[in-house]
Amino acid sequence: MCGIVGIVGKEPVAERLVDALRRLEYRGYDSAGVATIHDGTMERRRAEGKLFNLEKVLDGEPLPGTIGIAHTRWATHGVPNVTNAHPHFVEGVAVVHNGIIENFSELKEELIAEGAVFESQTDTEVVAHLLAKYTREGLDHQAAMLAMLNRVHGAYALVVMFADDAGTIMAARSGPPLAVGHGKGEMFLGSDAIALSPFTNEITYLVDGDCAVLTAKGAKIMDFSGRPVTRKSQISQAATFLVDKGNHRHFMEKEIYEQPEIISHALSHYVDFAENVVKQPDAAIDFGSVSGLAISACGTAYLSGLVGKYWFERYARLPVEIDVASEFRYREIPLSKSQAALFISQSGETADTLASLRYCKDEGLKIGAIVNVKESTIARESDAIFPILAGPEIGVASTKAFTCQLAVLAALSIAAGRARGTITAEGERAMVKHLVEMPRIMSRVLNEVQPQIEALSREIARFKDVLYLGRGTSFPLAMEGALKLKEISYIHAEGYAAGELKHGPIALIDENMPVIVIAPHDRFFEKTVSNMQEVAARGGKIIFITDERGAAASKLETMATIVLPNVDEIISPMIFALPIQLLAYHTAVFMGTDVDQPRNLAKSVTVE
Ligand code: G6P
Repeated sequence: MCGIVGIVGKEPVAERLVDALRRLEYRGYDSAGVATIHDGTMERRRAEGKLFNLEKVLDGEPLPGTIGIAHTRWATHGVPNVTNAHPHFVEGVAVVHNGIIENFSELKEELIAEGAVFESQTDTEVVAHLLAKYTREGLDHQAAMLAMLNRVHGAYALVVMFADDAGTIMAARSGPPLAVGHGKGEMFLGSDAIALSPFTNEITYLVDGDCAVLTAKGAKIMDFSGRPVTRKSQISQAATFLVDKGNHRHFMEKEIYEQPEIISHALSHYVDFAENVVKQPDAAIDFGSVSGLAISACGTAYLSGLVGKYWFERYARLPVEIDVASEFRYREIPLSKSQAALFISQSGETADTLASLRYCKDEGLKIGAIVNVKESTIARESDAIFPILAGPEIGVASTKAFTCQLAVLAALSIAAGRARGTITAEGERAMVKHLVEMPRIMSRVLNEVQPQIEALSREIARFKDVLYLGRGTSFPLAMEGALKLKEISYIHAEGYAAGELKHGPIALIDENMPVIVIAPHDRFFEKTVSNMQEVAARGGKIIFITDERGAAASKLETMATIVLPNVDEIISPMIFALPIQLLAYHTAVFMGTDVDQPRNLAKSVTVE
């Protein structure tokens, strides 16, 4: 949610700030803005919508200056327009902000009573007004910053600049991430290390409650009372990732097709390919002795956790408590120290997931993070880190992160089963062999089903509503299929447990609502086919995603049958994820929506 950057340097910064914003656009794209100081004058350019609108404005009216801050917005308070776009200016103060200032209404009232005039509807503007007020009252910039930080509550990453000091940028973190980049005679700030990767790979991550003062020479970090604190810098791996689309039309397409290679890389971290056994995972969590697991996550990551629940319970006989993080954090779940908690997050920064993590930590549970960004807050606050090694995922709709999360959960549930004596050595070898074969099968599936799915997507695009059904691990997959379809094609879609069909959704079935049934020929196949029959009997149009055995066993007439190879249950969620991703992708492309940056969404959700 919102990407922020700042540079204090020796060369012109406007273009470099925009370049960094481009790498942060996944965090929001409602508006963008940049401000610099040149010859004692602070100026800004802002534009509604995506970054290229700002680039056009800058082409017409360039901004000189070797110090600047910039922002790409995901709107919370105030509609996306130029007035609400950051940076916000008040009397020589410029502010960019990611997060929410929760007490902004009372601060705004107080400031208005003192004569302040607000331009925007944002919560951010109170920060600029407070800084202006404290400066007017005679505080120096650092003191004004600390005074402001002691008045605002909420979740925020802030970057601030003062027109009368063309050599300093200030920043503060309380929630959303903020990285300080160390250059040669230049210093940088960004919402993540990838944003700064063309400039430097030496990064210091601010922690909650840190305030940083950056000059071209370096960074001074202190707490909100001004006491200096020491934070180590580290060399970030972010620069090694190439962030471009290659030959693909969209990042989402590239990320779908990357999956076989990336999963094989991720698996090599968890599986000994020579011996066909899982490697001992991070020992900070002892799966052999825990009494149960709590899992929490949001969005697609939650759905991968739901598949994980089936695996941990079945293969390791470990009871799993799972909920979406926004509920988990407030449910006051009775937990025991003998349990371990797993948090799944591509970004490692999702606010609700992080809050659930902290709840479990306070309850004394051992914490494990299944994350893509190893340097993220969720990873840093965990006892054990289980990286998914998917590389940067740019498409807002998650694809490769989902299947990599599944691969890691599969490996962990096998490791847990081994540690608990619920999987024999022979069973482990058989399951691992299936995991090892998976990347090859994924490649085959992607190539084979693509033309059929592309053609089918033209049919799907005609409908307003779609129902996805599945049983067992295909149930979370049905929900993921519906989520992918709705988020990028804007077709209303729901994912249901096939057995729940009769308890409501069957009332909706008619020729205007296709029902996509995910049914590999597994233990549940017969039952799911019965549900399909109930749909067919009511004139429903069925799209059947099954395997070769399933296709041979079913005699039902369908609108389309997508046939995948026969695979073992342990890998079927990863294999069956591919057609549902492709279906959402091609439908969205056909409908002409913005596939990589769907409306209203953002990739990293750092507010509640
Ligand atoms: C947003 C994204 C989803 C993602 C979810 C959780 O909603 O659009 O793709 O699954 O956040 O994000 P996380 O980074 O915690 O996995």
